[in-house]
Amino acid sequence: METISAIVLAAGKGSRMKSDRPKQFMEVAGKPLIAYSLEAFEKSAADEIVLVTGQSDIEYCEKIVRKYKVSKCTQVTAGGAVRALSVYNGIKAASGDYVLIHDGARPLVSQRLIADTIEAVEKYKAAVPVIPVKDTIRQISPDGTLMDAFDRSKLVGMQTPQAFERKSILSAYEKLISDVCDFSQITDDVMIMEKGAGLHAHPVPGEEENRKITTPEDLEWLASHI
Ligand code: CTP
Ligand code: MG
Repeated sequence: METISAIVLAAGKGSRMKSDRPKQFMEVAGKPLIAYSLEAFEKSAADEIVLVTGQSDIEYCEKIVRKYKVSKCTQVTAGGAVRALSVYNGIKAASGDYVLIHDGARPLVSQRLIADTIEAVEKYKAAVPVIPVKDTIRQISPDGTLMDAFDRSKLVGMQTPQAFERKSILSAYEKLISDVCDFSQITDDVMIMEKGAGLHAHPVPGEEENRKITTPEDLEWLASHI
């Protein structure tokens, strides 16, 4: 039987939220934001949960794990300076055949979405939830002029959990580390898998509700959706 590790990321600073405490620890409906995704993976088919946080927040996170009875969370480990390095630390700490890498800032991930992602990774080796893009998207050049619009019908937004065979994503990371890749430009793990291993992920339907809580407006939205 193949095993699944969920890696929940909570080592960011939340600079766009402009709050005193990182956004993942802010309370929403009486619970720290990070507790919602931990509870979701606790309920799911994942076998273990690795929580990645800042060195100085490890003890605080261990308390959250105990308080919300997240029995599958056996490890709280330190993250890195950028998201990709936090993921890398999480993958090294994980032991499953597959890893599900999730932004701790996406509290409303559903059981349906987790189950579909697991099913897809077992079949295709790499899977990612995607949603249609609502706005028209353009690139802007350094001098501020707009470039051609993309064909919106061909665009999707990338969500998490992104799922991979643990050994494949680990070797993709190791390849990029030995190539001295600039990880600050890498915002998700599908990019890592493509750049480091040349492997494409299979898309599964994502959900609007699985929004990444980034700004104070997102936090207001969340409070009215819980
Ligand atoms: N993250 C992490 N380690 C980092 C940076 C980000 O574990 N060094 C995590 C965040 O905690 C979050 C997820 O990656 O759960 C997605 O990142 P993002 O929404 O960008 O969060 P922050 O980096 O914290 O926010 P900001 O970019 O506004 O500073
Ligand atoms: Mg960030």
